Amino acid sequence: FSLKNYNTFGIEAKARQFVAVHSVEELKRVLSANKNEKKIILGGGSNMLLTKDIDALVIHIDLKGKKVIKEDDDFVWVESQAGEVWHDFVLYTIDNNFGGLENMSLIPGNVGTTPVQNIGAYGAEIKNTFVSCEAMNITTQEIKTFNNAECNFGYRESIFKNEVKDQYIITSVIFKLTKRNHKINTSYGDILTELSKNNITEPTLKDVSNAVIAIRKSKLPDPKELGNSGSFFKNPILLKSDFEKIQQKFPEMKYYEVSETEVKVPAGWLIEQAGLKGKRFGEAGVHKNQALVLVNYGNATGQEILSVSKEVQKTVFETFGIHIEAEVNII
Ligand code: EPU
Repeated sequence: FSLKNYNTFGIEAKARQFVAVHSVEELKRVLSANKNEKKIILGGGSNMLLTKDIDALVIHIDLKGKKVIKEDDDFVWVESQAGEVWHDFVLYTIDNNFGGLENMSLIPGNVGTTPVQNIGAYGAEIKNTFVSCEAMNITTQEIKTFNNAECNFGYRESIFKNEVKDQYIITSVIFKLTKRNHKINTSYGDILTELSKNNITEPTLKDVSNAVIAIRKSKLPDPKELGNSGSFFKNPILLKSDFEKIQQKFPEMKYYEVSETEVKVPAGWLIEQAGLKGKRFGEAGVHKNQALVLVNYGNATGQEILSVSKEVQKTVFETFGIHIEAEVNII
């Protein structure tokens, strides 16, 4: 079974067996009937790099549905099944004037995978509106609820990438969103620039969403036109003391403080300064508008993209002495 249409990198890789599940009961049945099979779980396929054919049962989570489950005067609790397309879900919340997800418009992927790496963009992260998720234990098929604190969210991190890695499948997520007094967040410089281009001084949720969409479209390639997985690397977090030493050699280096003792450096800046932005290696390369994104020009294999990523890591390390870690799941 070809997975080419199931990963946004557009890599041609085959799965030994493939099944799409459309309900929690179906998922339960598939898991209990395949207890001893090796299994790989596939959501929107937007944060993975397939480097070879998959000798396993690939389970595509296609659970659909979204609804308001509770509300008071100020807030609404909205539940989405894991297989809803994230951006469609965001647009649905904005159309209903529910606030909190607008800065995360147009992020590729499905709702069920958003908690795994605590997706974020333009000053927002899902941990700020996430209430809880339900997840099925792969071995026992029991459903467990994880509340916000239990998810151990961090920068592109959660319990699902660490303590319970490969043990659960998220089936639905609940977000708590504002019905009024929306906290419009334009702290990210690019958003303000985009809004002022359109003479908007008091932005609505829709205005912020449109601004984010415009920024993303200008920098990030559309996976339908150019295969990619968004940011391929995480922005490295350095100890201030280490950073200061590197900064002496590279005073222009951009950074954001993340705590008293740590700073985050934009990996896109490091890759660009290392001379790799827009560089093509055969069928794969570094995107010309956003160096953090690796792209498939059409016929790249997963191995080719993987070797470009290693080349990028090596060059950045040789230039700055900083190791950048992959953000995407390498399979
Ligand atoms: N930069 C460069 N050259 C580049 C790219 C970036 O110099 O080629 C500099 C920019 O000038 C800017 C800084 O790096 O000063 C940050 O760039 P940008 O605002 O584009 O954001 P980012 O740090 O590269 C992160 C997220 C993105 C998210 C944006 C906006 C990670 C790994 N990536 O990228 O998330 O959309 O911020 O909030 O944290 C994703 O995870 O797939 C993703 C796209």
